[in-house]
Amino acid sequence: MTELHEILYCSLLAPDQPTEIVGQIVSQARARNATEGITGLLVFDGMRFCQHFEGPRKQVLGLLNRLEADPRHTEMRVVYEGELLERRYQRFEMGLAQTEDDAEREDIAILQQLDGAEALERFLALRPRLDIAG
Ligand SMILES: Cc1cc2nc3c(=O)[nH]c(=O)nc-3n(C[C@H](O)[C@H](O)[C@H](O)COP(=O)(O)O)c2cc1C
Repeated sequence: MTELHEILYCSLLAPDQPTEIVGQIVSQARARNATEGITGLLVFDGMRFCQHFEGPRKQVLGLLNRLEADPRHTEMRVVYEGELLERRYQRFEMGLAQTEDDAEREDIAILQQLDGAEALERFLALRPRLDIAG
């Protein structure tokens, strides 16, 4: 069986990038993820990104490398990384949740400071409150 891997990271939209770029990033990401077996969720609060993605280990690490080289965001920090027994996202090749809600933005800001299982739990707890476009 293919070994599944998951990564959660946070980053900031690069200062020279308009917020409209996010729609473009996601539509390209969906097509690519579908071919690579990657599923997940991207949350954007107008300034910060948090993205959680999962799939075969090789493809997930490949995406991580591409993300690290992408100048459209900065200060990228992986807050959780690990093996996974079964997918958490069945439905999305990459869901997008854009939020301007103060409480959710505050949660994302806190999450960015956390590490490991605590960060993952916080993100998973935020999920049901988000309005996700798939
Ligand atoms: C916040 C953010 C999220 C991204 N999410 C994905 C993704 O889920 N899948 C993907 O293939 N590319 C994603 N990208 C784009 C990659 O960084 C990269 O540009 C793209 O995969 C094409 O890489 P290539 O030109 O080296 O082939 C994302 C970029 C940013 C800034």
